[in-house]
Amino acid sequence: MELAATVQGVRQLVGDARARGLSIGLVPTMGFLHEGHAELIRRARADCGFVVVTIFVNPLQFGPREDLESYPRDLARDLQVAAVAGADVVFYPAVEEMYPPGFGTHVDVHGLGTVLCGASRPGHFGGVATVVAKLFNIVLPDRAYFGQKDYQQTVVLRRMVRDLAFDIEMVTVPTVRHEDGLAMSSRNAYLATAERRAATVLHDSLEMARHRILAGERDGAALAAAIRERMEGEPLARVDYVAVADPDTLAPVTRLEGTVLVALAAFVGRTRLIDNALIDVPARG
Ligand code: PAF
Repeated sequence: MELAATVQGVRQLVGDARARGLSIGLVPTMGFLHEGHAELIRRARADCGFVVVTIFVNPLQFGPREDLESYPRDLARDLQVAAVAGADVVFYPAVEEMYPPGFGTHVDVHGLGTVLCGASRPGHFGGVATVVAKLFNIVLPDRAYFGQKDYQQTVVLRRMVRDLAFDIEMVTVPTVRHEDGLAMSSRNAYLATAERRAATVLHDSLEMARHRILAGERDGAALAAAIRERMEGEPLARVDYVAVADPDTLAPVTRLEGTVLVALAAFVGRTRLIDNALIDVPARG
């Protein structure tokens, strides 16, 4: 596996691979890699001739009171995880490499970026879209891989790809979970023992939603209220939002039919966790 810290360096490696006729897969990450990231890399490895993993804790997507400084980092371990999962190159630029003095261009995906997580994290998805657009332009991948855990991110980025005509296939990979259902996330590292136990309330609430739908619930607002009540039953969790929404537009749905997105965010202690499920609503016979 090769390493590159500069735009020029990674472009050189990718250019050589393309000249050898290899297709290019890109896995953008903020590092502190876990099994969820490894799964993205393995998918890219299976689909593509040359796999680029990027590790960059992107300041643009953190709010002023968020965890940019304390965000977990462990480059040595990340390089091992990336190598074992099948990366060909890891690109780990410094902040000045991505955002040199005078950097002044911003990508905003209006509408989709201001609801759900965007409502509690103003500017977050603009920061994500900006860095991912730049990574796309640096690497020019054929395919790019993102986890379903960040469902809204996948919707925002797909819209960006369509709107700005990036010629890239977007691949969404199912969420990887711990045995008790908690979605893998770099931020799980912040959880104290009791909080780690309490954090399963997100997945448990999604399972409850699935069962209610299978049992005949078709009212979106009633389902959202039941999920909120379930989450509020966990004393260590503070609900940020519960959404029962259209998977493409992210708009709330009143009547449940087709496939619905149930998306949640909660603070467990000081750690903000998210999770979601796409649930197929059975047609009534
Ligand atoms: O999902 C993430 O880790 C980040 O939002 C991403 C896509 C790497 C952009 O910084």
